[in-house]
Amino acid sequence: MNLEDEQIGILGVGSMGRALALGLCNAGFAPNKLMLCDKAQELASNTATELGARSVASSALLAEKSDIVIIAVKPGDVEAALKNVSITDQLWISIAAGLTISKLHSYLSKEARIIRAMPNTPALIGEGATSFVLGKKTKESDKAIASTIFSSVGKVWEAPSETLLDAVTGLSGSGPAYIFVLIEALADAGVREGLPREAAQLLATQTVVGAGILARESDKSPADLKDQVSSPGGTTIAGLGALEAAGLRSAIYRAVRAATLRSKELAN
Ligand SMILES: NC(=O)c1ccc[n+]([C@@H]2O[C@H](COP(=O)([O-])OP(=O)(O)OC[C@H]3O[C@@H](n4cnc5c(N)ncnc54)[C@H](OP(=O)(O)O)[C@@H]3O)[C@@H](O)[C@H]2O)c1
Repeated sequence: MNLEDEQIGILGVGSMGRALALGLCNAGFAPNKLMLCDKAQELASNTATELGARSVASSALLAEKSDIVIIAVKPGDVEAALKNVSITDQLWISIAAGLTISKLHSYLSKEARIIRAMPNTPALIGEGATSFVLGKKTKESDKAIASTIFSSVGKVWEAPSETLLDAVTGLSGSGPAYIFVLIEALADAGVREGLPREAAQLLATQTVVGAGILARESDKSPADLKDQVSSPGGTTIAGLGALEAAGLRSAIYRAVRAATLRSKELAN
């Protein structure tokens, strides 16, 4: 999908809005077709200058001048941010957590073309995981637009139903925090076994990064990759036995369930 004829507006230039702006520019999107808007006008204009993009002072102007508007303000700020916008034929892409397409229609119009997406923080370094779902009024070409935008900051999966976005939130939306805890625990455990803190931190982080990339690039399943490094009676299977005894798998199931349920609660 070529986005070069489209004018993209980003509403909210916080962590995610900035990550998407950078990702698009790094992926070759022409910065002069990018327009930024934030309540903090200086933030929008400084970021725009940094990227060679433009900034506008209000969401109404942003909507008027954009073919695609990415809504990247906090969920509680969305209604106010969309108050005075005129709906023409723009595509609206919201990344606001928990805000349903039906709620977004009530802020915009029944006829608005809306896509709801759930990215995660590794988007900041181009390694995000994003799922999106198409609203009923979207056109066939809108799917390719969303894929292209979110591919610029990582991997993308189109969810067939909006209800699955709660599970996406529980897994990949909240998932980076689970992995940060895992890295921290690995490093602490290494220190407990006598490693210097700095070395333990480096080894723990790189182990997670390396295993993650291997799992992504390999044609083997994670279970096969695990089996490959678990020789009979060896060190790794001893470690895995301890993880099983401590209930690691069950803890992960419960974490994803708890975050999924919380996402459903927040949406209601
Ligand atoms: N960060 C994540 O991990 C993550 C993951 C998935 C989805 N999301 C979603 O992404 C959205 C943005 O999150 P974030 O972490 O990037 O938030 P953020 O850093 O707080 O950025 C939001 C920006 O929008 C500005 N803003 C607020 N009201 C506005 C308005 N009416 N018009 C223009 N700009 C306005 C904020 O300004 P002030 O600070 O002055 O209010 C802030 O600069 C949220 O809806 C969140 O649910 C975030």
